[in-house]
Amino acid sequence: MVNRIPLIAGNWKMFKTASEAVETAGQLVDLVADTTGVDIMIAPAFTALDPVSKVVADSRVGLGAQNLHWEKQGAYTGEISAQMLTASGCRYVLIGHSERRQYFGETDDTVNRKIRAALDADLLPVLCVGETEGERESGQTFSVLDKQVKIGLQGYVPQDLGSLIIAYEPVWAIGTGKTASREQAQEVHQYIRSLIETTFSPALAGAMRILYGGSVKPGNITDLMDMPDIDGALVGGASLEADSFSQIVKFN
Ligand code: 13P
Repeated sequence: MVNRIPLIAGNWKMFKTASEAVETAGQLVDLVADTTGVDIMIAPAFTALDPVSKVVADSRVGLGAQNLHWEKQGAYTGEISAQMLTASGCRYVLIGHSERRQYFGETDDTVNRKIRAALDADLLPVLCVGETEGERESGQTFSVLDKQVKIGLQGYVPQDLGSLIIAYEPVWAIGTGKTASREQAQEVHQYIRSLIETTFSPALAGAMRILYGGSVKPGNITDLMDMPDIDGALVGGASLEADSFSQIVKFN
């Protein structure tokens, strides 16, 4: 069996000014300095990336962005390119977060193009997928994920996707305090892994990290991480304080 290094990632969404982000990142760097066997990432707002990159340089904490545009440059007011992110010290980028899909018109097609832009710039893409409450209740969970994964990754070959990370975030569990049970999460993670296996290759599926996101807290991370197909977490609210996020990072 492939040893997948867990990744604990914090999505800071539209919280924290640059100086607030620098302060929290500095606290986090100290709190996780002695951790091993786990990858750690925080994704602050764009305005905080450059200053936070200086705080996390040479630390256990990697830097990520929350979005990017698929073109290298151009007349795209308000957008940001992969090259701008790498120049600001980013190593990871979230793509297709449900809030981007819900409020900003992100589609599986734009997700697909953004993954290419990230890979071309050597950023590690974190592809976010997940069903809404209505979709789960009407029995569409697997078909929704099927579409998000297949269209999101259409046209790619296994060799392209060695650095891809998938985050399963059921929309009904985001910011609601309702975590998917670990059995519910495991069932979906296993489904996603089998989808990668049949669409791409068993080797890619075996090596791919699949994170769970949605109301992850210090109190539920250990149970989630016990499941065989859960390889880490994408954390919103509980990542905003260095103390709670570092407890999640130290889940075992
Ligand atoms: P919460 O942890 O606040 O539920 O947010 C999850 C999320 O959307 C991370 O990307």
